[in-house]
Amino acid sequence: MKILLLGSNGQLGRKLERQLSSIGSVTAFPRSALDITNHRAVRDAVLVIHPNIIVNAAAYTAVDQAETDSERANSVNADAVANLAQIARDQSLWLFHYSTDYVFDGSKQSPYLETDTPNPINVYGESKLAGETAITAVDCQHLIFRTSWVIGIDGNNFAKTILRLAAERNSLKVISDQLGAPTSPALISKTTIDAIRAIKEHEAWPQGIYHLAPHGVSSWHEVAKTLIAHAEQQGVQLNTQVESIQAITTAEYPTAAKRQLNSQLDTHKLQSQLSFDLPHWKDDFLAVASDIVKELETV
Ligand SMILES: NC(=O)c1ccc[n+]([C@@H]2O[C@H](COP(=O)([O-])OP(=O)(O)OC[C@H]3O[C@@H](n4cnc5c(N)ncnc54)[C@H](OP(=O)(O)O)[C@@H]3O)[C@@H](O)[C@H]2O)c1
Repeated sequence: MKILLLGSNGQLGRKLERQLSSIGSVTAFPRSALDITNHRAVRDAVLVIHPNIIVNAAAYTAVDQAETDSERANSVNADAVANLAQIARDQSLWLFHYSTDYVFDGSKQSPYLETDTPNPINVYGESKLAGETAITAVDCQHLIFRTSWVIGIDGNNFAKTILRLAAERNSLKVISDQLGAPTSPALISKTTIDAIRAIKEHEAWPQGIYHLAPHGVSSWHEVAKTLIAHAEQQGVQLNTQVESIQAITTAEYPTAAKRQLNSQLDTHKLQSQLSFDLPHWKDDFLAVASDIVKELETV
């Protein structure tokens, strides 16, 4: 199985680059080697490499910046993805793509199903939805994994920011009214490998969109408390204690891009295909928290 991995320097891309070799022969390109907005270069790379699967971990993910940079967000998250879909169809390849809870407006009172109507409330969400729509319209063989709150060891993310701030300050204010589940790149990668294995064994999952997140519901406030409690247990010296992490509302923390209050994803459809049980978010997140804290200790 030949796999072409795009965007291999991101949080997810780096994990995939390390893990995918267990299932196939991987050619991985960071943006510096292959910019997916260069449509011709991507087509040429596919023609040279002849992959069976394109795994697209490349994305414009700067949610607030996208509000004033919609052209670039759309060029990466929509136009380049449409090109990948077209190439995948022309060459009869699979396209694996990742999308986001940001395609929803968050007004639903329960976890979102794949069949719920998207209604993004910011530019980033619109651009990611346009990418999904392009893939569906071209109708190449595809799997789209919509995931939420990606937090891993690589790159910058919420957990690293919280630990940095907790080292600098005596108290922190963290949003408690946005609900969802942190998802590790390790879980996304394991799911990706499971889906590739199914293709290899001629039992490909039905193409389409799958929601991918661990079980359970959390808030950013709860994730921050879980992280700091874990760091304390590991003996990391921080100025902020768990009790000094204050809960605030989204309204009290204005951002350039609007954030939806409900990011919960219903994962029954994915679970029905997976060969393993999705973990609870706390177990999934604590594995990442341990790695991040260990990294801090060695700095
Ligand atoms: N992060 C989250 O909380 C979250 C939540 C839900 C869904 N997702 C989705 O999950 C996927 C992976 O996200 P992530 O957290 O790994 O994001 P990330 O850490 O921001 O990684 C994205 C990668 O894409 C690369 N990239 C950007 N523009 C490119 C281009 N034109 N050509 C090639 N590569 C390009 C970036 O390159 P540079 O390293 O050079 O910048 C970066 O390495 C994305 O589809 C994202 O939308 C993320």
